[in-house]
Parts: sequence; C-alpha cells; structure tokens
Amino acid sequence: MQLPLKNHPTQKRETNETEAGMRKLIAAMKISVDGKMEGPQGSADWVEAWSDDYGLMPQIDACVLGGGMYPGYQQYWTAIQKEPDKPVWITGSAPTPAEIEWARFVVQTPHYVPSSTLTSALWRNTSFVRGPEEIAALKQQPGKDIYLVGGARTTASLIDAGLVEELRLIVYPLIAGEGKALFGTTERRRGLELRKVQQLSQGRVSLIYGIG
Ligand SMILES: NC(=O)c1ccc[n+]([C@@H]2O[C@H](COP(=O)([O-])OP(=O)(O)OC[C@H]3O[C@@H](n4cnc5c(N)ncnc54)[C@H](OP(=O)(O)O)[C@@H]3O)[C@@H](O)[C@H]2O)c1
Repeated sequence: MQLPLKNHPTQKRETNETEAGMRKLIAAMKISVDGKMEGPQGSADWVEAWSDDYGLMPQIDACVLGGGMYPGYQQYWTAIQKEPDKPVWITGSAPTPAEIEWARFVVQTPHYVPSSTLTSALWRNTSFVRGPEEIAALKQQPGKDIYLVGGARTTASLIDAGLVEELRLIVYPLIAGEGKALFGTTERRRGLELRKVQQLSQGRVSLIYGIG
C-alpha cells in the first residue's frame, strides 16, 4: 500500500532547528578508506555494529533511506527489537547495547523511503515517497533534523539535488577493493567544509562536513 507523506503534527520549535526553521538533512555512513560502503557480498563486513555512532539520536526525529536498503534494514532492526539476545544477520553477532537502544528508537521514528516499486512495510510509520521533491517538502515541515541513512544511490542523488546539508562519515582503516562506492553514481562536483575531525577507537576516524 502506498502511504501518503504525512504532515508532522504541529509542534514547538526544537532548539536544533536552523534559524530559518528548516530541518537539516544529515547523511551518515560507515565507509572504508577507498570510499566503499559495502563489499562485493552486499554488506560492510568490516562494521562490527550498526548503532548510532554519529551522535544523531537527540537531534533527529525522522529517517530517509532508499528502497534498495529498506527491506534489509527493516528486517535487521525489527529482529533486534524483538529478540535482542539473538545474533543478527549482518554482523553475525548478538546486538550491542547501543544497537538495542537504537532499535527501540528507530522503530518508533517516521521513515520516508524514496521508491517507485516498494508498496508495503512492516512498520506503520513508513511512508513511500516518489522523489527529491517530496524530501524537499518534508524538510519544510516543522521538526528536528532528518537522518539520511543511505544507501549509496539515494545519498548521491539527494546530495546532487542539493538537499543534504551535512555529511558524517566514520572511516574504517581498510582498503576494501571491490564493492559499492558511496559516491559511485554522483553526477556533480561539490566542495565540502570540514567541521569536525575525531579519532575513534580501532583506528577509525569520524569526519563531519558541511555541504555548501
Ligand atoms: N556503510 C554504510 O554506512 C551503509 C549505510 C546505509 C546503506 N548501506 C548499504 O547500501 C546498500 C544500498 O544502497 P543502494 O545504492 O544499492 O540502494 P539505495 O540507495 O538504498 O536504494 C536505491 C533505490 O531507491 C529508489 N529511489 C527512489 N528515488 C531515488 C533517487 N532519487 N535516487 C536513487 N534511488 C532512488 C530506487 O528504488 P525503486 O527501484 O524502488 O524506485 C532505487 O533503486 C545496502 O546494501 C547497504 O548495505 C551502507
């Protein structure tokens, strides 16, 4: 069933809304040094947990993600929410406490999925949207910022459309070689403004860029 893009309930302005009142769309990904977001087998097996390691939870109240990744994503977080003691399919390990916390948050958070083919979702608060115009309209509605979860094609096309204000990357110390590049389908050159660099555990680096 195609779900309409719902209006957010009128709510008090949150402190993290920009001065102009526009919600930011923030893309956040875990990538290899050579810019791959997954290996040839279809997952980023170098990522040990898919928790919110970007500090986004207090800042966002909606997620956008592509039709390519939505079915597996929904399955992953539903499994963690329902059976938090069982190993999950992407990592093959039992979820971490941070993943369990994120699973609880994410199943209650509205999701907006650009897709022309998907028609049904397990989560009632999922809406299928047709294209960048509907994401632009979502950003005009009141609310906190919006997390652009992925995947590669959706992120590249929404950055090309000028709809993404911030890019948060966690770079893993690995040259992945074969695999899907985060910016493999990007069409335009775009300058970035480095806002924060942080060294994380296990050789990872957190980078936050503003997108002009
Ligand atoms: N490393 C990380 O942090 C990370 C994070 C997220 C995802 N991922 C990986 O990313 C992979 C999925 O990425 P993906 O590039 O294959 O697929 P995707 O970006 O998730 O989805 C692409 C699909 O979205 C729909 N779509 C609608 N409007 C679009 C538009 N304007 N631009 C692009 N797509 C649009 C199309 O579906 P229809 O054909 O239905 O119209 C298209 O086939 C997953 O396998 C996941 O592992 C990695």
